[in-house]
Amino acid sequence: MPTTQLTPRLKDDNWNLHQIAEKGQTPSTMIKGTMPKETFGLALAQTFIIAKVFDDAVATIKDARPDLGALIHDEQYLTPYLREDLAYFGIDATAITPVPGAQRFIDAINEHRDDPCFLFGLHYVRLGACNGNRFVARKLRMVYKLAGTDGTRFLDPFGDTQRTKWISFKQGIDALDLSQNEQDRIFAGTQAAYVLTINLDYDEHHTAEQLLDMFGQSLDKKAFDEKHSVHISPEEAL
Ligand code: HEM
Repeated sequence: MPTTQLTPRLKDDNWNLHQIAEKGQTPSTMIKGTMPKETFGLALAQTFIIAKVFDDAVATIKDARPDLGALIHDEQYLTPYLREDLAYFGIDATAITPVPGAQRFIDAINEHRDDPCFLFGLHYVRLGACNGNRFVARKLRMVYKLAGTDGTRFLDPFGDTQRTKWISFKQGIDALDLSQNEQDRIFAGTQAAYVLTINLDYDEHHTAEQLLDMFGQSLDKKAFDEKHSVHISPEEAL
């Protein structure tokens, strides 16, 4: 059985970008529970605008690359959850225009429609982000006094099956027979996803190198090695 061992690379070689992403204004104020509810609604709308294009592009992987496509399931598309969340908060997303970072994300997805491995890398990051978003959802449900999964479905779409589904997704990737070039394209997609997500908080785009210059001093490899996250205590870690 082929085994690429690609997923350790996707995790370990992106540790610094993951940590910068966690420290960003939007994710950090969400996990601390300091983001005003109205701001959360705006973030939700921007995520929805991106997700519509994202889901549409990810669906094309199924025909282009059936091996990768076999790992993509309907429940991984985020648009339906976001529709529910927007409806809960009474937000009409059609009335909202993308902020510069959301437009850049949409443009990047569209520019790579003929690059299924890259698209798969982008998708890997939004699925992986659900690992941390489960903690974010828990916090927001508490501070906004939300019942059940109200308004937070997209953060925690898999509920208690999150961990097992994520592990099986990664095992599925490592069982594929992928050339070095295909692995490199998937990796490039994951890097781009982190960089584009971090840049959602900025009007001007910053490259990975610029972000590493800006945040390099504050990065904490020990926190990554111990619990992956700067926001989660070892007791809470998965
Ligand atoms: C407050 C914010 C965040 C927290 C607390 C957090 C926390 C975590 C945790 C605990 C894991 C599980 C690690 C493991 O045991 O496998 C994880 C995985 C992951 N997170 Fe985050 N995260 C946050 C934000 C983000 C953001 C904004 C992104 C995307 C840009 C992201 C992308 C990922 C990915 C892709 C994985 C899977 C890593 C891998 O196995 O390759 N996270 N995160």
